[in-house]
Amino acid sequence: MSRRTVLLTGATGYIASHTWLALLKAGYRVIGLDNFSNSSPEILNRLKRLSDQAVVFERADVCDLPALLDVFQSHEPDAVVHFAAHKAVGESVAKPLDYYGNNLGGTVAVCRAMHLSGCRHMVFSSSATVYGVPRCLPITEDADLAATNPYGQTKLMGETILRDLVASDDRWKVATLRYFNPVGAHESGLIGEDPRGTPNNLMPYVAQVAVGRRAHLQVYGNDYDTPDGTGVRDYIHVSDLADGHVAALRYLFDADRSLTVNLGTGQGCSVLQVVRAYAQASGREIPYVIAPRRPGDVAACYADPTRAAELLGWRARLGLDRMCADSWRWQRMNPQGFEARSA
Ligand SMILES: NC(=O)c1ccc[n+]([C@@H]2O[C@H](COP(=O)([O-])OP(=O)(O)OC[C@H]3O[C@@H](n4cnc5c(N)ncnc54)[C@H](O)[C@@H]3O)[C@@H](O)[C@H]2O)c1
Repeated sequence: MSRRTVLLTGATGYIASHTWLALLKAGYRVIGLDNFSNSSPEILNRLKRLSDQAVVFERADVCDLPALLDVFQSHEPDAVVHFAAHKAVGESVAKPLDYYGNNLGGTVAVCRAMHLSGCRHMVFSSSATVYGVPRCLPITEDADLAATNPYGQTKLMGETILRDLVASDDRWKVATLRYFNPVGAHESGLIGEDPRGTPNNLMPYVAQVAVGRRAHLQVYGNDYDTPDGTGVRDYIHVSDLADGHVAALRYLFDADRSLTVNLGTGQGCSVLQVVRAYAQASGREIPYVIAPRRPGDVAACYADPTRAAELLGWRARLGLDRMCADSWRWQRMNPQGFEARSA
């Protein structure tokens, strides 16, 4: 059988770069596409080194339909994994048009390019944010959907657009993957999460405290109804998440059906558990101060990952200690992220 070709949008981003390696390992031909709005070209050098092969990359914006059509014509992908999006919740509240324009404009343009090129298999990066404030835990895929900010709306609307496409033409097969909280890094320490400016998420913040870039962590609220009072989330190792994409693509090609699944571990960890595990992994103290709750934060959020296990045969393998150890290796080897070494 000839090798299938997969186009990754947002390919040099955090989750896509790990997925790129997992897809190469699984035997796919991978074409990466990104505009570097939130990533560094240095990632391409790292991917070359890790995969020991040339990486095929197109610099383009997913909102630029003519550019997308050129890419589709040159590479004839069999499927698209659509990661490209802006992802900062706070920024989405301040700049809603940027988020709707980029995330929805990009999704529509990618679908249009796929339609015009006869490519109708897509894996879509959705998020647990589509569950809004969960009413029951663990969260199943049938839970009520609600968005509490413009970023979440773009994921919810993105899902709707894709559902409508599937309903309009049964040649479309879409795997909607609702990620919980991706953390960690590739075991080599060569690629990992490299937030620009102040990290929005807990683990990259803790990593920067451990490496001395920030003085202390702020823990937002210690009076939630959780075992230690701090917020509980479902952290998932980015390498497990990457494998989930490989499993979802296999499902699209083999079962030839669409699906929506949670990708999480099913285990909730509190902020203080993460702090302790990171201190252990790094051998560094993680000073923290307790701050007031942030508006909009929920006490606890974790997945029921049963459907992914049943349909995809996928489950997360790596626990919190490994997530922290791999994050720390990446942070220690790249204290200033990718840019410091890209010259
Ligand atoms: N990291 C998380 O916590 C998380 C959780 C749930 C869902 N997601 C979703 O997963 C996807 C990947 O997230 P990530 O954490 O890897 O983010 P990331 O910012 O590291 O990666 C996104 C990539 O998309 C690129 N991009 C953005 N707009 C583009 C455009 N118009 N054209 C071309 N490229 C563009 C950026 O340059 C970046 O490389 C996103 O869709 C995000 O919303 C992320």
